[in-house]
Amino acid sequence: MTTNDPATPFDVTRTLPADATGAALRADVLHGLTRTPRTLPPKWFYDARGSELFDEITTLPEYYPTRAEREILLARAAEIAAACGARTLVELGSGSSDKTRHLLDALPDLAAYVPVDVSESALRGAATALLAERPGLGIHALVADFTRALVLPATPGPRLVAFLGGTIGNLLPEERTAFLAAVRGMLAPGDFFLLGTDLVKDEGVLVAAYDDAAGVTAAFNKNVLTVMNRELDADFDPDAFEHVAVWDARAEWIEMRLRSTRTQAVKIPAVDLALEFAAGEEVRTEVSAKFRRDGVTEELRSAGLELTHWWTDEAGRFALSLAAVAG
Ligand code: SAH
Ligand code: TRP
Repeated sequence: MTTNDPATPFDVTRTLPADATGAALRADVLHGLTRTPRTLPPKWFYDARGSELFDEITTLPEYYPTRAEREILLARAAEIAAACGARTLVELGSGSSDKTRHLLDALPDLAAYVPVDVSESALRGAATALLAERPGLGIHALVADFTRALVLPATPGPRLVAFLGGTIGNLLPEERTAFLAAVRGMLAPGDFFLLGTDLVKDEGVLVAAYDDAAGVTAAFNKNVLTVMNRELDADFDPDAFEHVAVWDARAEWIEMRLRSTRTQAVKIPAVDLALEFAAGEEVRTEVSAKFRRDGVTEELRSAGLELTHWWTDEAGRFALSLAAVAG
């Protein structure tokens, strides 16, 4: 469905049937909360409130990835533009599209921007803000799940597909493999993929980035409980769960969890579940994998993508990779 009323000078396409989100949430909750250990997929953080909280996270003193990636984009946008000459920029998990401005500004021949996100409110906010500054930009927003097959609008090539923010780290290794293969499928020879990855570093710095002093990340993590209360008529008490962030040195990822502070029963009527949580029992809500250059190069290569550039911020905290379709 495409809505294109005159008051909205960009189009927003929802490729999902009306209740697809509800059905997918019910399936994920049913599957994730009945297994041991319990898990929930991270995309359910991002309702309107969750998207706002994430934007707040990006301004926290402890959360360095956004600033580090912006530094690289500012320093390298002209090089990226010269290397790919893109006429269409597709951005997966675009959120507020805030850092994307630096790319949009650098691409002289850009005809279309295609932001893709599960959060319709984030997409509408981003498109409205971008159009106020760049009235001529063709924006085709796509409300879609980037882990599923995407139907991209027919816009001029070459295409640059960007996946920023280190969001690739929120996919599990096997999901990452499937995702990169799907990205390769979106590209024709001459197209490029721009990938932001957070890098392995000191544990204290990493944990602080996911457990800030002001408690914004804790509120963001607990927001998923509020989403289930609203969408599934559940009765989670967010005050009876605490936010936990731990570094798993073997997997090289930060794990976000919600820990039940006491024995409690929770009902989720929409999926007919009655759950018992033991005191201290945890639900894994997200992983945020951290990367090294060799691993990124190899994962891209396995997907048929060839790393052409690797840039980091001055402090070496975060990397941007540019990859071409392998010849
Ligand atoms: N790119 C932005 C936002 C990163 S936060 C930045 O760098 O700051 C991750 C974004 O991905 C959020 O906007 C969230 O709504 C979106 N997202 C998470 N899972 C998704 C999925 N499966 N499909 C599409 N978008 C997703
Ligand atoms: N892509 C972001 C990251 O991994 C998402 C994120 C940041 C996040 N802080 C979070 C997700 C806290 C869940 C909880 O850095």
